[in-house]
Amino acid sequence: RTLIAGLLLSVFALAGCGKKQEAAQEASAPQPEASAAAAGDREYVVGTDASYAPFEFQNDKQEIVGFDIDVLTAVAAKGGFKVKFVNTPWEGMFATLPQGDRDILSSAITITDERKQSMDFSDPYFEARQLIAINKSSTDVKSFQDLKSKKVAVQTGTTGDEVVQKLLGKTSANIKRFESMPLALKELESGGVDAAVGDNGVVANYVANNPQQSMVTVEDTKSFAPEYYGFAVNKGNAELLAKINAGIKAIKADGTYDQIHKKYFGN
Ligand code: ARG
Repeated sequence: RTLIAGLLLSVFALAGCGKKQEAAQEASAPQPEASAAAAGDREYVVGTDASYAPFEFQNDKQEIVGFDIDVLTAVAAKGGFKVKFVNTPWEGMFATLPQGDRDILSSAITITDERKQSMDFSDPYFEARQLIAINKSSTDVKSFQDLKSKKVAVQTGTTGDEVVQKLLGKTSANIKRFESMPLALKELESGGVDAAVGDNGVVANYVANNPQQSMVTVEDTKSFAPEYYGFAVNKGNAELLAKINAGIKAIKADGTYDQIHKKYFGN
């Protein structure tokens, strides 16, 4: 780098153009896809709502970790690409794909027909189901039906929100919506609602780890259908999707997936 160029750069930085400059660099950098040899070097920005242990959460060092993180990182290694995880609020997350702010979403996202209209999903990588959490004292709740006239907390716009809407009605004042699953579960702990409904892995993890041990879970496999998590990409990004799917195949075939599964869920 010449002295003049260096000086210009510092002037830019001082002028607060750092961000723009970064964006410009990204845009003008030669796209690795253009040359087959460098195709493996492309780094994709991955959106994840890191409030969803054990799938995606922040450890003591504020690093984003979890099952989804390990799976997609292993997938990327096999699929020949790099990933950078960026904490992204659940609400508005889907819009970051067409906006170009995120290349991949890795956030325990259930593949649904409605979502398939606006984004493309990888092959499924995890099976889940909704699970009910209640306070131990609510002995009258034995199934999902028993929530019919109760106050229920959900994370906004999740499949948990959808199933509860079906039971209580879309506009029911008894549905309390929160921007994260921990907030929904805290509301249950503090007695603001009678139950919370969400993905089994996350609800079970929260109930098991909450120091008060005041909550229990209620399964209802009759009311809740299995759901499948997929990684999402912008609609039409077939090239990236193919790399992700190849990676998923590879980590399932060589035991890496099973290892990661065991790390987070035991057997
Ligand atoms: N699986 C549910 C859904 O797709 C909930 C996912 C929420 N994920 C998160 N990281 N908050 O609707």
